[in-house]
Amino acid sequence: MSLTLGIDLGGSAIKAGAVDTDGGEVVGELQSVPTPAGATLEATRAALASLAARFPDCRGPVGLAFPSVVKAGITYTAANVDRGWIGADAAALLTAAAGRPGVVVNDADAAGVAEMRVGAGRGERGVVMMLTFGTGIGSALFADGRLWPNTELGHLEVDGREAEHRASARVRTLERLDWPAWCERVNAVLARYHTLLWPDVFIIGGGVSERWEEFAGLLRSPARIVPAKLRHTAGVVGAALYAAETAVH
Ligand code: BGC
Repeated sequence: MSLTLGIDLGGSAIKAGAVDTDGGEVVGELQSVPTPAGATLEATRAALASLAARFPDCRGPVGLAFPSVVKAGITYTAANVDRGWIGADAAALLTAAAGRPGVVVNDADAAGVAEMRVGAGRGERGVVMMLTFGTGIGSALFADGRLWPNTELGHLEVDGREAEHRASARVRTLERLDWPAWCERVNAVLARYHTLLWPDVFIIGGGVSERWEEFAGLLRSPARIVPAKLRHTAGVVGAALYAAETAVH
């Protein structure tokens, strides 16, 4: 069994785990540290180094799921992290911090890759849209299993405001929305996405998916709506799968 380190940088915590990339499973305990305030480059580098040092058995590349547009290791946006990440060579920073080849991927794309491979999207053809509801709204779009990266649909305007400013899990908490009020907003977002891209399936992930039973019955769309299966491990597993497949060894 080959173990690959996967790391997921979220709004409140950075999680890391050793992933069996054949089975797509976390082996052993996830480790986490609080996300440094503002997630500046230097503080994040130190946090990544301390997490990576806890996984001496993971060899080969390390994958990082990061909340930004990522192309060839460069982060291009910074909606919920320090603006210093815009144009930063995140892969080089990760490589230096972890002491092994670093691969960086958008966090929702990572979660989507994991769900498609070993979770709720397994075997799904057609158009699948994975959405993560957390600090922001992340999106990962698949056509017949192939990822269209960096779709960033959380920033699409819905009724005059960015989708993630109306319907992220963070907004639900901040505005103390009950499930019906929040789901009404989510349904407006799903309707807009459906009009544009006609997905066959929405996979609902992110921290809020842990409470799926409490709100599932309130969601509506002409597309099927299913919960993510990997829940809080999707980013870690997806980052490791992505790294194992794309890193230059
Ligand atoms: C970011 C995306 C990210 C999403 C979920 C958005 O604000 O722009 O890159 O996938 O949040 O974390």
